[in-house]
Amino acid sequence: MSGARQALAEQLAEAVFQALVDDLSRQERALLVVSGGSTPVPFFKALATKSLPWERIDITLADERWVDEQSNDSNARLVRENLLQGAAANANFVPLTSDASTPEEGVEEVAKRTASLPWPASVVILGMGGDGHTASLFPDSLELGLALSTDEPLVAVRTPSQPQPRITFSAGRLHQAHRHILHITGDDKRSVLANAMQGDDVLKLPIRAFLSCPLAIYWAP
Ligand code: 6PG
Repeated sequence: MSGARQALAEQLAEAVFQALVDDLSRQERALLVVSGGSTPVPFFKALATKSLPWERIDITLADERWVDEQSNDSNARLVRENLLQGAAANANFVPLTSDASTPEEGVEEVAKRTASLPWPASVVILGMGGDGHTASLFPDSLELGLALSTDEPLVAVRTPSQPQPRITFSAGRLHQAHRHILHITGDDKRSVLANAMQGDDVLKLPIRAFLSCPLAIYWAP
């Protein structure tokens, strides 16, 4: 982990801490939506050390791979092992999978579970892949058009480039937040983001669906 990436994670944790403190001064509960993948791990660890009224905080994921929670590919496992530690274990974590064998069968149950969360979220933290995907809004996903346009909160997605089926909050639901943050590292992602900012075809680079939120960019080399 480079010093710059560690510093980025700590600055992001401080910003999210402040956002949650601000919102909790006005409302009883606050919702934090995080992403999975590899980038957020140092951020999760930094946020977990913050002194927050964790029992008043709900945490969920922007998207999830439809795998068992014990799987190394599970974003829920990543959150449990890195963020829900120490006092942060008192947060109410709402995972995006169920016992159903496919996301198509499980999506309704997960939608019910997430409906009672205190939307709009205080912060939605997005990641981005080298193909311009964010959450599980992939350019090659069969359900991308639906996930970008539906009023439903969650969509089951099948993506040829990905090994597992997934479930993702729709763009519409992810827009329901007081603040949006993109957390990315490395020159490749900087170039992808620069490309995204130069055009407007959301189907080609789905991160574009969030470029007018406004979107705070946390980037380090
Ligand atoms: C996931 C994500 C996904 C992620 C990007 C970036 O479950 O994979 O939520 O949208 O943010 O793929 O992933 P990396 O941080 O691993 O590059």
